[in-house]
Amino acid sequence: MDLILVRPHFHPHVALVQLNRPKELNALNLQLMAQLRETLKQLDADEEVRAIVITGNERAFAAGADIKEMAGKSAIDMFLIDQFATWDQIRKTRKPLIAAVSGFALGGGCELAMTCDMIIASETAVFGQPEIKLGIMPGAGGTQRLTRAIGKAKAMEMVLTGKHLPALEAERYGLVNKVVPVDLYLDEAMRLADEIAAMSPVAVRLAKESVNRAFETDLDEGLHFERKNFYLSFASEDQQEGMQAFIEKRPPHFQGK
Ligand code: CAA
Repeated sequence: MDLILVRPHFHPHVALVQLNRPKELNALNLQLMAQLRETLKQLDADEEVRAIVITGNERAFAAGADIKEMAGKSAIDMFLIDQFATWDQIRKTRKPLIAAVSGFALGGGCELAMTCDMIIASETAVFGQPEIKLGIMPGAGGTQRLTRAIGKAKAMEMVLTGKHLPALEAERYGLVNKVVPVDLYLDEAMRLADEIAAMSPVAVRLAKESVNRAFETDLDEGLHFERKNFYLSFASEDQQEGMQAFIEKRPPHFQGK
């Protein structure tokens, strides 16, 4: 399998998805992306799962789309294959996605990490959009998400030169949530996933939708959307539980209802 799905015993509400083409540095071929799409769809529908961590291995999160698979394709082949429909479906995952990145996160690998909601990186992680060196340009959101994350000047430099961005710099520019030593990056991502999984899944879903809306609309529309989701959160049993637990000075127990 190009993908390994683990439901770790000590993290009952977290699913771990590992990209598994180590010899190819987890190059994202069509088969792997289709498996990822289907796995995320299944996890999104699983009530037990409240957060999802996507990782690679120490050497590579993913070194991009599979160049060998793409090399002989024509524009019309690419158009008909329409691989980005798969990416669109991954983007629509409603549960929180955390990328646990070590080593190379290049091209589609960087774009996949940015498609996730948060990124935990090891000190050895490097991010980049090197497509320009192949005579192409990013196609899975790189020019848009990188620019929104780190600003025009740095994004332009990375996209036009293919220059890598090391983990600590990526953290400084706000691309990455946290950088930790290489032996801790997966633990840290799982810890963050556990923390989110302890919250109300209803509130988490409404909040994720609202934060994402900030990138898709103007402020007035975004505030309107946020307000509707805020009111909707009061329809949940979790809202009653959360506020009652606060008043009774005890930890809340959220059911996702
Ligand atoms: N596609 C296919 N195979 C890849 C690959 C990729 N993106 N990246 C690495 N590999 C393969 C290599 O061909 C090599 O295979 P062989 O052993 O069979 O030769 C193996 O993985 C190991 O790679 P290297 O020997 O090159 O390892 P390295 O440590 O010397 O270099 C690297 C690592 C800098 C990441 C280098 O492999 C590299 O530059 N990879 C390509 C990165 C890239 O250009 N990504 C963008 C792809 S296009 C894209 O992603 C478009 C999009 O927006 C969707």
